Amino acid sequence: MEIIPEAIAQYAEAHTSAARPLLKELERETWLRQLHPGMVSGELQGQLLTMLSYMLRPQSILEIGTFTGYATLCLAQGLQEGGVLDTIEINEELEPHIRHYLKAAEMSEKIRLHIGNALDIVPRMNQQFDLVFIDADKINYSRYYELVLEKVKKGGFILVDNVLWFGKVVDGSKDKDTEGIKLFNEKVQADSRVENVMLTIRDGIMMIRKL
Ligand SMILES: C[S@@+](CC[C@H](N)C(=O)[O-])C[C@H]1O[C@@H](n2cnc3c(N)ncnc32)[C@H](O)[C@@H]1O
Repeated sequence: MEIIPEAIAQYAEAHTSAARPLLKELERETWLRQLHPGMVSGELQGQLLTMLSYMLRPQSILEIGTFTGYATLCLAQGLQEGGVLDTIEINEELEPHIRHYLKAAEMSEKIRLHIGNALDIVPRMNQQFDLVFIDADKINYSRYYELVLEKVKKGGFILVDNVLWFGKVVDGSKDKDTEGIKLFNEKVQADSRVENVMLTIRDGIMMIRKL
C-alpha cells in the first residue's frame, strides 16, 4: 500500500535540504552492493533524524540496526561535545563498510560500533541514553522496547522506524513481521510510562517520550 502518494513524497524531498555528499555516496553504494538496499533511511528520513538530533543535543544515543550506517551518521550530527553514539549490527559482513564511512565522516571517535545481537548486547550495557533509534528485525520490536526503556533517561526519547510497515498494519496482513509491529504499536499506545506520537513520514516513525 502506498502510504504517501509518490508525487507528495517527491515534492517533500524536493523541499528538504540535500544530504551531504558523503551520505549520498553511502546511499549510492548501499543500492549498488546490498541485497536489501531499501532498508537504508535515505534523504528525507535522514534529514529528519539529523534535525531531531540537533534539537535534542543528546549526550548519549543508542541505535539498534546499523545496516550501512546512514541513520548512524545523521543521528550523530547533533551529539554534544564529548557525546557518544552506540550502534549495534548483527551482520558482521557489514563491518568494513560501516567502519569505512565512520572514518570518512571523521566520526570513529564518537561512534562505537558493536557487532552482534542487540538482544544480547543491550542488557549488558551499563549506561543511560538520551535518545534511542530502534530499526532492526520487526518481530523483536516489543523486546527491544522493553530492553531500552529501562536504559532511557527520564524525559528521554525513543524513535522506532517502520511502524506502518508499508500499510500492512491496517490491511489485515497476518505475517510475523506485521504481527510484531502491531503488537509493539498497541503496547506503546497502552503504556502509561510513556507518551507517544506516530508520524506518517516514509514508512512511519513512532516517537516516544519516557515520562
Ligand atoms: C532496516 S535495517 C537498518 C537501517 C539503518 N538504521 C538505516 O537507517 O539506514 C535493519 C538492520 O538491523 C540488523 N539487525 C537485525 N536483527 C538484529 C539484531 N538482533 N541485532 C542487531 N542488528 C540486527 C539487520 O542486519 C539490518 O542491517
